[in-house]
Amino acid sequence: MHRTIIEPFRIKMVEPIQMTTLIEREVFMKKAHYNPFLLNSDQVIIDLLTDSGTSAMSSGQWSALMNGDESYAGARSWHRMYNEIHDLTGYDQILPTHQGRAAEKILYTIIGGKGKVFVSNAHFDTTRANIEYSGAIAIDCQTPEYLDSNSSYPFKGNIDIDLLEKNIIEHGATNIGAVILTVTNNTGGGQPVSFKNAVDTSIICKKYGVLFILDACRIAENSYFIKNYETDQKHKSYRQIAKDMFALADGCIMSAKKDAMVNMGGFLALNNVSLAEECTQLLIITEGFSTYGGLSGRDMETIATGLQEVFEPDYLEYRIKSTQYLGNGLQQLGVPIQLPVGGHAVYINAGELYKHLPPSQYPGQSLVIDMYVKGGIRACEIGSVMFGKLDAQNQLIPASKELVRLAIPRRVYTQSHIDYVIETFEMIVKNKHQAKGIKIIKEPKFLRHFTSHFDYIS
Ligand code: F0G
Repeated sequence: MHRTIIEPFRIKMVEPIQMTTLIEREVFMKKAHYNPFLLNSDQVIIDLLTDSGTSAMSSGQWSALMNGDESYAGARSWHRMYNEIHDLTGYDQILPTHQGRAAEKILYTIIGGKGKVFVSNAHFDTTRANIEYSGAIAIDCQTPEYLDSNSSYPFKGNIDIDLLEKNIIEHGATNIGAVILTVTNNTGGGQPVSFKNAVDTSIICKKYGVLFILDACRIAENSYFIKNYETDQKHKSYRQIAKDMFALADGCIMSAKKDAMVNMGGFLALNNVSLAEECTQLLIITEGFSTYGGLSGRDMETIATGLQEVFEPDYLEYRIKSTQYLGNGLQQLGVPIQLPVGGHAVYINAGELYKHLPPSQYPGQSLVIDMYVKGGIRACEIGSVMFGKLDAQNQLIPASKELVRLAIPRRVYTQSHIDYVIETFEMIVKNKHQAKGIKIIKEPKFLRHFTSHFDYIS
């Protein structure tokens, strides 16, 4: 057995990375007001801000792109994408959108609204925002295993079935907009949902006559975990596991920017014809005609090819193992991470790494600044900057955890890039006691992590 997980691809085209020095990066960071979102991408050496829309397309996808049929209605490329999604999901009604949140906006506007309640394993932030914007309420039902950071239970992304049923009874089945199972669970650490949990969710939804929607943007990664960690699913192919999971639900939303490995795209797929007709009206008003929605013909070609490639066993093996490789490397240095490692990202517990910094001094923000200055690595704080709230006295109500997400773009970085990230953490760990507290200088009303200005506490 070889120790090295080689990338199952050769590189045909390269994109240069601009190298920078520590002194330059100190200046860049200061000019960006200590907010990595305000850096220019050419000031970044390794960009781990997101795995969304950052994939490298394959030669198969680039050649499919040239087959794009840009006709307004009934394009060949639409039929190709429709057939691919239909074969994978089994749903007849397919609505193409420019990205995941556009599909969310359409569906949750139609089935949401005041008085409606949505229940999920964990709503992603745009999902929650679209639900709440419609006037409805979004409730997360995490399991006790998820809440225990030391538990290495393999399916920490699961929804708590008892809590789900309790919520349906409490709010009344007719008031439930939908139950949404997000696979993998991005908000929870990129951790998977088991097949059994999806079956149990489906049983509850059928019992109460409630709509069951999958947020399927990382369903291939989720299938990897099911095949490898759920004994009674081992005999199935990754694609078959995904197909069987889609069959349990009434529809799905997918941001194609993740597991369809394209730079832009998404779709909504449903069984229910009359619901789909209502959604199609809104699709035509806000996105485009029903056979292209928010997409060009070439996008639809690349999505169709990407959805085939993502289930290739060699790809998935490399994808999940290489995320684990980063997690293992960090753990060996004593960096506290969320366990077990999920599919698309490693989540660092910055509150524990920088123990001397209280939440009010934003240890996660301090860590993302250090990662950039020391290594030119860009990552995202998922702690009290992103989720903290202020009470009536303007005091911070901290987030439940001070995390930093290192999200890994698909097929973009090699093992030596990841080794470089791990080496940067050697420096960070060595100097962890010197990490400085951070204060917010200027913040917007909503989504403050994107545009706030920060500085060191002197
Ligand atoms: N659902 C999940 C679980 C997501 O992770 C995302 C996006 C969306 C929906 C929305 O899709 O971006 O195409 O509109 N997640 C990105 C991230 C932004 O960085 O995790 P979108």
